Amino acid sequence: MVNRGPTSPIQHGEIEISKLFTSLKIRGETMPNRVFVSPMCQYSSKTDGLATSWHMVHLGTRASGGAGLVMAEATAVRPEGRISQWDQGIWSDAHVDAIRPITEFISSQGSVPAIQLAHAGRKAAHAAPWIGTGYLGDDGEGWPVVAPSPLPYDEKSGLPEELSHRQIADITRAFADAATRSVDAGYRVIELHFAHGYLACEFLSPLSNRREDEYGGSLENRSKFALDTIAAVRDAIPEEVPLFARISTTEYVDGGWDLEQSVQLAKWMKNAGVDLVDCSSGGNSPQQVMPLGPGYQVPFSAEIREQTGVLTGAVGLITTAVHAEAVLENGEADAIFIGRELLRNPYWPLYAEAQLDGNSEWPVQYRRSTDNGTYTGPAG
Ligand SMILES: Cc1cc2nc3c(=O)[nH]c(=O)nc-3n(C[C@H](O)[C@H](O)[C@H](O)COP(=O)(O)O)c2cc1C
Repeated sequence: MVNRGPTSPIQHGEIEISKLFTSLKIRGETMPNRVFVSPMCQYSSKTDGLATSWHMVHLGTRASGGAGLVMAEATAVRPEGRISQWDQGIWSDAHVDAIRPITEFISSQGSVPAIQLAHAGRKAAHAAPWIGTGYLGDDGEGWPVVAPSPLPYDEKSGLPEELSHRQIADITRAFADAATRSVDAGYRVIELHFAHGYLACEFLSPLSNRREDEYGGSLENRSKFALDTIAAVRDAIPEEVPLFARISTTEYVDGGWDLEQSVQLAKWMKNAGVDLVDCSSGGNSPQQVMPLGPGYQVPFSAEIREQTGVLTGAVGLITTAVHAEAVLENGEADAIFIGRELLRNPYWPLYAEAQLDGNSEWPVQYRRSTDNGTYTGPAG
């Protein structure tokens, strides 16, 4: 357990603590609270996909900020599966060595290091957002992209090559190998990125998957890539390591992927060994109309949780402690993933805990930030 110094003056003792700061045990892992850092691309690797000091500072700060789980960005299982040329990757052992000090630091802060494994499919080979948007081309900085069917995301995107059975099997294997490496690197939770219009999501949606083989057509066939990947990853990681999957619960387009299909998929995923479904939405079609607002994806999490009994994570514009607590109290999710609010304020969990439970333990190195001038020791 992290050393956060002597026991704080306000003991939890008899006081009932919030759900947000109640631990969550999944398989052999216990998250000390339910504030989870949502995976966020940092576009800060060099073109070799290696983690850099940016990742250490970014992820490490959120761990010392008190989040119960810190998830690394969509990390490519193959070089051509990167969203941008600056994405983090985990397709070789060199990646493991670069990551290890980061996971060690996250664990040293009492938080659980997690990684999101990804293949971007037809949405690969894009520029970092601050450079521009759109496909980088299939030569020079970009590379050819692949997908279930030869359908580009939009008119600015590259025309993907339709994946052969052999290529699909290779990608499934790459997810399993990446999962093995992730555990070696010190990650204690693995999440599969099946959302936001990336490869697995492209297979799931009837709008992006027009295949006529066993990977296309029926819901069962469209789910085959995702379920085969879960099976391969589950086989590759120890029994006690939790497995999460992030899905787009709806793509907000008539005739496309929707909540009803997500409920069925969640049942299958649960049977295949997924422990928690991280409920996001959208990203597979430029036609989507997303009703943004506080907690806009919470009802999807609530429905999947209720219909399937699987643990769920809620994400999306949950920015206050009171809101996060209410989502848990209402039984709409088991954990809260927070993205942009934690970019703005990595210490959000410490403030949230103080607000809900009257106390929080800052890292010992920062305790004087909360002593309100009463400290009388050496200035240092
Ligand atoms: C800079 C940035 C990068 C993101 N990268 C990822 C990613 O790698 N994987 C993913 O599943 N979602 C990604 N997202 C989506 C977030 O994880 C989160 O789902 C979304 O921002 C909504 O939550 P929020 O309102 O708390 O930010 C990203 C979001 C931001 C702002």
